[in-house]
Amino acid sequence: MIRAATGVGIPMPDQEVWSALAATRVEIRPDCPLGPQTTIRLGGVATALARPRNLDELVRVLKAANELGIEVRFLGAGSNLVVVTDRVPSLVIHTKRLDWIVREDGGVRCGGGANLVSTIRRTVKWGLAGLEGLAGIPATVGGAVAMNAGGKYAEIAEFVRSVTLLSLDGTARDVPGDALGFRYRGADLGGAIVAEVRLALAEGVPYRLRKRFRSILAEKAASQPLSEWTAGCVFKNPGCESAGRLIDRAGLKGSSVGGAAVSQVHANFIVNTGQGKAQDFVALAGKVQATVASRFGVELEPEVVIWS
Ligand code: EPU
Repeated sequence: MIRAATGVGIPMPDQEVWSALAATRVEIRPDCPLGPQTTIRLGGVATALARPRNLDELVRVLKAANELGIEVRFLGAGSNLVVVTDRVPSLVIHTKRLDWIVREDGGVRCGGGANLVSTIRRTVKWGLAGLEGLAGIPATVGGAVAMNAGGKYAEIAEFVRSVTLLSLDGTARDVPGDALGFRYRGADLGGAIVAEVRLALAEGVPYRLRKRFRSILAEKAASQPLSEWTAGCVFKNPGCESAGRLIDRAGLKGSSVGGAAVSQVHANFIVNTGQGKAQDFVALAGKVQATVASRFGVELEPEVVIWS
């Protein structure tokens, strides 16, 4: 079964907490709906959602939350996240405005909230090669590092020169890419937030990079439901097998629970058809796991992050 991660949410708000958060002068929204901030468009509200615009603001809000003992969660592009609860009783830090992309010697430096697609387009234009292999992956650069986002042609780990991580108490440290414990769809960040990323990219010819970008994007668009509401691949590939192929062979394409359906295009995607509820997603994912386990003896492990 897909199990929701349990966090020790601290009930909010109380007046003291709100005053202390307001004193950070960071934009903080109460009772903020999370569904519109996720690509699958599911989920309830965050008790508080902070939108820091720069590293100073990020440090201030982290320090305040740490001093108040409030649970913090990080939200980037919301492209690999399913919020299954009506309320996330935490301070959600939305990184989207940490979105700078700066060219520097041998690559780029980006804010953790920089949009990956924008970053790819920018680097292609600048004649910097590598990121075009990540075409079609919706993410922020920080989220992509945290999950080691990738596909057939590249993984972001290949390009990470170093990152600036902020611990929950707001302390910054620079860590080289090769000390981040990158693995298949994962990295070891020790619970810290990716504030800034430096990517090492080779010189390339913009025209050729653009061509490669377009061809990878076209290949993805033909094999994945890119324009529908999904959270990307739901399950990790087990060993050398493909989760999508197993789900497909189990005859599950098109099967549905309420407004959640297994994609007809790629069986490892669950689509919110418009009226989907988070519980539909959970029930359908559980059905997929149970069916694949009984047909093939394979336990599928979620790739998506579940917030409860
Ligand atoms: N297949 C089916 N039916 C399906 C889907 C796939 O038979 O419904 C078959 C394909 O025909 C192919 C094989 O399964 O022979 C593998 O499929 P695909 O090339 O689509 O790759 P995948 O292993 O399913 C992985 C990543 C994707 C990434 C693609 C392309 C995982 C879990 N999935 O998918 O990543 O985009 O390769 O590089 O690692 C993601 O992480 O969110 C994601 C979508």
